[in-house]
Amino acid sequence: MFRFTFILYKKTLPVNNLSFPLNTLQYIYMYILGIETSCDETAASVVKADQKTGRLLVLSNVISSQIEIHKKYGGVVPEVAAREHVLNMLPVVEEALQIAKIKPTQLDLLAVTKGPGLITSLITGLETVRALSFAWQKPVMEINHIEGHIYSNFINPATPIKFPALILTVSGGHTTLVLMDKKRKIKILGETRDDAAGEAYDKGAKMLGLGYPGGPIISRFAAAYHGPKNRLQFPRPMLTAPNFDFSFSGLKTALFYQLKKDPNWQKRRAEYCFEFQQAIIDVLIGKTIKAAKKFKARTVMLSGGVSANQELRDQLTQTVEKELKGINLLMPAKEYTTDNAAMVAAAAAFKIKHQKPVSFSALKVDSSLQLK
Ligand code: KG4
Ligand code: ZN
Repeated sequence: MFRFTFILYKKTLPVNNLSFPLNTLQYIYMYILGIETSCDETAASVVKADQKTGRLLVLSNVISSQIEIHKKYGGVVPEVAAREHVLNMLPVVEEALQIAKIKPTQLDLLAVTKGPGLITSLITGLETVRALSFAWQKPVMEINHIEGHIYSNFINPATPIKFPALILTVSGGHTTLVLMDKKRKIKILGETRDDAAGEAYDKGAKMLGLGYPGGPIISRFAAAYHGPKNRLQFPRPMLTAPNFDFSFSGLKTALFYQLKKDPNWQKRRAEYCFEFQQAIIDVLIGKTIKAAKKFKARTVMLSGGVSANQELRDQLTQTVEKELKGINLLMPAKEYTTDNAAMVAAAAAFKIKHQKPVSFSALKVDSSLQLK
């Protein structure tokens, strides 16, 4: 079977056959099918990209979330996630095409998350795309998951994106500050040295007995708190450090010890959530403002699952208005904050201008893929 596939492939799609990628650049519109399976969301989306204006129209954005399944384990179980992806992948792709009213023959490009993420989850999406690419004879753009989050801001931006742009990506696995120039080249300014901000939310919620995923639950409890402030003291890790790196594991440890010495913590859950969240927000905003000033950013963008947090969005908006006058602030629409495939297709729409797609034989996952 393998040999048969190999021979067929050799005949029809030589490794460096670039005829289809070059043709796609001549199109006015491109229809791109994006696929994302880096963690516990099986997602597919069809995006129509206007090659001239850069405008993106999301025709479908289908997400099958496994949250209900992983909830009972208090976090994502990789083996379970992979099995669910296998079951959900093709129905999700089919639905995305149906909603978009697009046939596979109309697609110009496939886009898939190459990494970083859970290896077994990534493999399901990537191998699906390999099969579809072979069957439909479509080129593929491999996308870095964080890059996908970054490009979620390029879907119907509320204000023009001026460069250099500073982007803070805050997800369950990453907290990353990057600078993007007008050629969309990315320079990493800082990353987390241990836990990501989303991970701090998730682990904090676990300690507070609040379930998974922690971000939405902690933010709900925090929003319901209207009592006295600053009675609980949490550190602001690395806020004043002379770099743009982050560290959130100390904050988690601080929560652990405060809970240990407080016999009444269960009655003060909302207060704990409020102060713990504020410590995270202070660090994220403080570092972002400092970097925006230093690198003279003309646009500031927020992305990743934690960017769904309304308090973070509100406080960042207020601080940018106050401290970065005249600078555009962009945040993705809520449906593009947590993992989705529209952001993967969006990243491909921009990347195709500078990077050649690959044929199915060259696809390869990389669970610890670095941003470049
Ligand atoms: O980007 P994402 O969906 O997946 C990763 O790439 O990791 O981010 C998931 C993270 C989780 O840690 C989750 O707790 C957090 O985003 N999150 C939130 C909110 N919604 C999701 N954190 C704070 N507030 C929220 N509303
Ligand atoms: Zn993500």
